[in-house]
Amino acid sequence: MNLNNDIKKILVTNEQIEARCKELGEQIAIDYEDKKPILLSLLRGSIPFVTTLSKYISIPLEFDYMKASSYHGGTSSTGNVAISVLPASKLEGRHVIIVEDIVDTGFTLSTVVKILKSYNPASIEIASLLDKPSMRKVDDLKIKYNGFVVPAEFVVGYGLDYNELYRQLPYVGVLKEEIYNK
Ligand code: IMP
Repeated sequence: MNLNNDIKKILVTNEQIEARCKELGEQIAIDYEDKKPILLSLLRGSIPFVTTLSKYISIPLEFDYMKASSYHGGTSSTGNVAISVLPASKLEGRHVIIVEDIVDTGFTLSTVVKILKSYNPASIEIASLLDKPSMRKVDDLKIKYNGFVVPAEFVVGYGLDYNELYRQLPYVGVLKEEIYNK
């Protein structure tokens, strides 16, 4: 079985992702000069993105991780966000960049931002590979560093999964409906 056969169409190629990560990474390096930011990746979907993005951020930075989930196996957000891993670093007074794979309803990130604010960081910004703005249900979310805007379709690849599969695909593609309507 070849996972590529389950993809209806490719929305963002690997070359486009690499080029956009270079632009975003270079911008972050300018914006955070002398600030030693913490790249706080949301597990598990943001790992390929943070790996590519961080290659282009040529200033000192640290990595940390948090785990938040809202899908619980399906293809639509439940709005019920479960946090199961908290950051290990001391965030007080630090500049935090949350790194996410996709912003859909926005429930996950607004919950994460609320939790992180309680640690009194110096600043919090968001970097997301993808944004699905037509699905947004919270209105106070600002994504400072966004890779690509995608339509309201279920996408996989470059970290994004369906039932934990497809994360390793080197591009972002729309999953064939028959896969999740089985
Ligand atoms: P939100 O809380 O609705 O913004 O959802 C954010 C999370 O839902 C992301 O971190 C993803 O894990 C997941 N998600 C949203 N849209 C998609 C998609 O099209 N494919 C795969 N996962 C998605």
